Amino acid sequence: MVALRIIHIGSGVFWAGSLLFLAFFLAPAMGRAGPDGGRVMQELQKARLMHVMPVVALLTILSGAWMMWTLSGGLHARFFRSGYGISLTIGAAASILAFIIGLAVMRPTQLRIGELAGRMAGAMDDERPRLGAEMTRLRTRAARATLATAWLLIVAIVTMAAARYI
Ligand code: HEM
Repeated sequence: MVALRIIHIGSGVFWAGSLLFLAFFLAPAMGRAGPDGGRVMQELQKARLMHVMPVVALLTILSGAWMMWTLSGGLHARFFRSGYGISLTIGAAASILAFIIGLAVMRPTQLRIGELAGRMAGAMDDERPRLGAEMTRLRTRAARATLATAWLLIVAIVTMAAARYI
């Protein structure tokens, strides 16, 4: 349990912390930076952010699921009727939903933004407005998904941290 808690809290801090920084500071700053913001996204991709984040999120979920299995005596119903069990379950559900949105919406959108930023650099003048319009549409989509994910992770942080006192 000690090893699982260290893995769980360590990866959870990394996942939720990075996401909150991205949603509330980095993404708005990149939006204001215009095309340079797209280049920052390209560099983040080269640093394998889009590969590291899902692995860290999965570590949080799997270690959490394992602890939940142990603490609930194999998912016993009585555990899920206690305040502790309900609070942990709400946090788990919120973070799993955040993970799904991250994989299904954020990841492909950010990858496409990085790809477009690369094409933009070598694009002909007549191609730029179309690429720019697509970039704006994708940025709005990515920003919405990032904000939704961040709020879900805030729910997870609050319910996980408070669980044992409920
Ligand atoms: C970003 C998402 C998450 C964060 C930030 C997070 C954070 C935490 C923290 C800080 C604790 C320690 C609470 C305490 O000691 O009082 C904890 C405990 C726990 N978490 Fe999470 N968690 C997340 C996701 C999940 C998920 C997805 C699951 C299950 C599938 C889960 C299951 C658990 C369980 C069962 C405990 C209780 C461990 C114990 O009392 O020994 N967590 N979590």
